[in-house]
Amino acid sequence: MSPQQSTDNLFSLQSHILAEESRHPGASGDFSWIISAISLAGKAIAHRVRRARLESVLGEHGTSNVQGESQQEMDVISNEILMRCLGTRASIAVLASEEDQEPTILRRGKDGGKYCVLFDPLDGSSTLDTNGAVGTIFTVLRNDSDVADAEATVCQPGSRQLAAGYILYGPSTAFVITTGNGVDLFELDPFVGSFILVKRSLRIPERKKVYSVNEAYTDSFPAGYSSYLAWAHANGYSSRYIGSLVGDIHRILLTGGVFMYPPTTSHPTGKLRLLYEANPIGMIVEQAGGRCLSGLESTLDIVPTKLHQRVPLIVGSSGEVDAVRAHFKTPADTMP
Ligand code: AHG
Ligand code: MN
Ligand code: MN
Repeated sequence: MSPQQSTDNLFSLQSHILAEESRHPGASGDFSWIISAISLAGKAIAHRVRRARLESVLGEHGTSNVQGESQQEMDVISNEILMRCLGTRASIAVLASEEDQEPTILRRGKDGGKYCVLFDPLDGSSTLDTNGAVGTIFTVLRNDSDVADAEATVCQPGSRQLAAGYILYGPSTAFVITTGNGVDLFELDPFVGSFILVKRSLRIPERKKVYSVNEAYTDSFPAGYSSYLAWAHANGYSSRYIGSLVGDIHRILLTGGVFMYPPTTSHPTGKLRLLYEANPIGMIVEQAGGRCLSGLESTLDIVPTKLHQRVPLIVGSSGEVDAVRAHFKTPADTMP
């Protein structure tokens, strides 16, 4: 065997999780089962996403979710797949989804259930009709069986996430995960049927002159964001925005830049949801050496009060987030 082969081992997500688990003596394996269930759901969703047009399941489902947004067919299908994969895991107490008004209580109190899993089953789904990149975002929290109310149980600050990740359904299917010990990247090999480790300990570049924002809403951005954009236009920045958070973030994680979803007239507290979009993305980016703010405060420090609450988001390369932050002289610069 050539020396190269001995260092270029094939490492699946499953073996990676078990290796991580072995670093924690006394680990029960419950946590690994949860990530394994998310991996299974990701493969199933990837298959359905790729066949969505052939199976005529594109477009709207004809219902609205709790956010008042029209649900896409694939939102509903992806949500069901995740519920069916995660519902069988005995270690889960509560599931919560962007697509469901209330959390789903699987087991509580004496029946165990050490963890809560929250997810955005299909992020960027409105771009699916035109073959855009979409993703699944997930986060794992510890369950507190002393807290009776399911919504209160999952309303934990992002700093208390045990794991966070996303699955990006693009030209390839990428699985990005952190358990608080750096960020690792896997790619689905459809012929093997496994997510294969391709990059350990991803580090986001500190600077990159690219910002990602929907400039159609510029007129309603708070003054600090408008001041930053004027500065960026005068300093040779480029712009990339695909309207799918997971796709925009994956580009920034790998090549650098900054993503912003500021407060707007239609979304005065921002559009993105704190618990299952901003917090998992923030944990991933900060674990890769980046930064994540919601206005003047660190996103991961916000104490949630509602499952579906929204926050403004500024996330990406540390130097680029700081460049945005420099334009917030007072709190008024961050408010609509
Ligand atoms: P979702 O499809 O889960 O509702 O998320 C869509 C989000 C996010 O993916 C993206 O960054 C943002 O909506 C785009 O919003 P605009 O179309 O207002 O720019
Ligand atoms: Mn989303
Ligand atoms: Mn969604």
